[in-house]
Amino acid sequence: MSELKAYQSACQSRVEHALEARLPGEGILPQTLHQAMRYSVLDGGKRTRPLLTYATGLALGLQENVLDAPACAVEFIHVYSLIHDDLPAMDDDDLRRGKPTCHKAYDEATAILAGDALQALAFEILANDPSITVDASARLKMITLLARASGSQGMVGGQAIDLGSIGRTLSLPELENMHIHKTGALIRASVNLAALSKPGLDPVVAKKLDHYAKCIGLSFQVKDDILDIEADTATLGKTQGKDIDNDKPTYPALLGMAGAKQKARELHEQAVESLAGFGAEAELLRALSLYIIERSH
Ligand code: IPE
Ligand code: IPE
Ligand code: MG
Ligand code: MG
Ligand code: MG
Repeated sequence: MSELKAYQSACQSRVEHALEARLPGEGILPQTLHQAMRYSVLDGGKRTRPLLTYATGLALGLQENVLDAPACAVEFIHVYSLIHDDLPAMDDDDLRRGKPTCHKAYDEATAILAGDALQALAFEILANDPSITVDASARLKMITLLARASGSQGMVGGQAIDLGSIGRTLSLPELENMHIHKTGALIRASVNLAALSKPGLDPVVAKKLDHYAKCIGLSFQVKDDILDIEADTATLGKTQGKDIDNDKPTYPALLGMAGAKQKARELHEQAVESLAGFGAEAELLRALSLYIIERSH
């Protein structure tokens, strides 16, 4: 097993436990809502955002236990965004992480509420989780960072641009702007939350990590667009070909498949360049950047 694969599988089981521990039990009222939250969060997904939080922490010499709460917060926001993204009013998808989408397994109202509740839970965790050891001012910065990354000038803003762009041909800067917001913002936050977990971090180091995160945030969605065309439904765990069906602007649509792959490669190179001042402690971050553009799902 490669070093990255071993790290991924260790982190995935760590994050599964950390998420489980922070979710309301399925017997707690209202039961259907809590079951829907657990259904969508647990036992699925690549956990790329938590992995980035842990790998950034490792590069900064942090212990994993101080990263559990930020890693869970960002994954809860991500899952909420997926539940809402799949709704009939948005992408109208039936399959997510290899199982029926939340609104198919439950109903639309429950899916909307499960997403809402996961969003609230993410912020409660950043505000209160005892495993966060930084002082109150750093905690506030974490809350602000995740709120901005999630909100109307972050992920939600990107989703609004996405829905407003159906059937339109965007220019390359417009497409890049959409991707940076809808997907890039949360990936960037996954790295920057770990940076905020390190008291007294040199701002120059923080800036390098932020630039790395910005590059991989965009490359992640470029690759997602590529996979929507090249992968199959069973491998993806979500229905292949939905971007073309829904008339979405994508990198392959605008640049062609070779152009989109070239763009992903350039972003990976830029991400690695941003880490030039780091040594072996950032090797997993470099490997994760490559994984993002080479993954099969
Ligand atoms: C899918 O994200 C949605 C995008 C932002 C592109 P992931 O590819 O990280 O989905 P999971 O978490 O592994 O299911
Ligand atoms: C989703 O982008 C971005 C968010 C969920 C915020 P997509 O709509 O391309 O994601 P998939 O392909 O459904 O996972
Ligand atoms: Mg979408
Ligand atoms: Mg979608
Ligand atoms: Mg997609």
